[in-house]
Amino acid sequence: MPKYKSALVTGGAGFIGSHIVDALIKRRIKVYVIDDLSSGHKSNVNPNAVFYKTSVLHPGLGKLILKIKPDVVFHLAAQIDVRCSVADPPGDARVNIMGTLAMAHASAKAGVKKFVFTSSGGAIYPDDLRPPFSEKVVVDPISPYGIAKRTAEMYLAFEHRIHGLPTVTLRLANAYGPRQALRGSYAGVISLFAQKMLKGEQCVINGTGKQTRDYVYVGDIVHAHMLAMEKNVSGIYNIGSGIETNVNQIFQKVNRLTGAKQKEVHGASCQGEVMRSALDATKAKRELGWKQEVSLDDGLKRTVEWFRARTAKK
Ligand SMILES: NC(=O)c1ccc[n+]([C@@H]2O[C@H](COP(=O)([O-])OP(=O)(O)OC[C@H]3O[C@@H](n4cnc5c(N)ncnc54)[C@H](O)[C@@H]3O)[C@@H](O)[C@H]2O)c1
Repeated sequence: MPKYKSALVTGGAGFIGSHIVDALIKRRIKVYVIDDLSSGHKSNVNPNAVFYKTSVLHPGLGKLILKIKPDVVFHLAAQIDVRCSVADPPGDARVNIMGTLAMAHASAKAGVKKFVFTSSGGAIYPDDLRPPFSEKVVVDPISPYGIAKRTAEMYLAFEHRIHGLPTVTLRLANAYGPRQALRGSYAGVISLFAQKMLKGEQCVINGTGKQTRDYVYVGDIVHAHMLAMEKNVSGIYNIGSGIETNVNQIFQKVNRLTGAKQKEVHGASCQGEVMRSALDATKAKRELGWKQEVSLDDGLKRTVEWFRARTAKK
């Protein structure tokens, strides 16, 4: 018997959210999805989930959550592009701060038993320290996206303390895998390179390509969310491998797997993005029992094969 009977996933038509929905349905949990489809796709949503096409900023959100009364909320709906946040900080803050606060406050009022928030481990730690970062490192976000994620974490701590909402924040490293949308930021660099190489389009590496990230396969990310739901814990957890891989290395690995034989082409670097990132997930290992199961090479193989099959179908 699952510990909880129902769950609401915001952003459940997106990359990570849709995999969480699938995992919950496999556990025989009744799933509701809220997504405005601003970047997600209806086709990602498991047909056994109840889908509401609406925004977390909709004035009727509180009433909807009271009606659903989910046991657990996974809040993933967000504006996820660091570059968009630099171009339009108020737009980013509306969704990533106000949307999260609206969801958390409505969830507290509806008596939600666990609120799991997906924060960023790649955009909030300082750019002048040596990774991997533990949760004890004093955060210093440099982009509006990172500032909004950190602000949302603080509002969640408030909702926990004052309104009794049990919250778990997962600070994710860079997730990758099937269903990741094509985007120009590093968040989606693996899917971007895989899709371009499979279509025979030249990839452009932003800047020197020496920027490092900590890449975690989406299956491992979903596992962390399931543990956050099941374990009797609250607080902030890093979810990462602790390993730095730079963009040039990703380019070479995907080049080999796709057989594209492309030469490295470099373009302008991106404002607002940190140079190095990797997360120390010792706390998640100790308290959640989480560890990375899928190596980068294995995850890259699975991801390229998924995009290859999808490209062949088109
Ligand atoms: N992908 C990563 O590497 C990564 C790393 C760290 C944190 N995260 C966080 O994980 C979450 C999911 O990211 P993802 O990579 O799956 O992105 P995604 O863009 O695929 O998913 C986000 C979903 O939220 C929906 N959405 C956006 N604004 C909304 C709104 N106002 N109301 C309702 N729905 C809205 C989108 O339509 C989309 O389906 C985000 O909160 C993101 O910040 C992702």
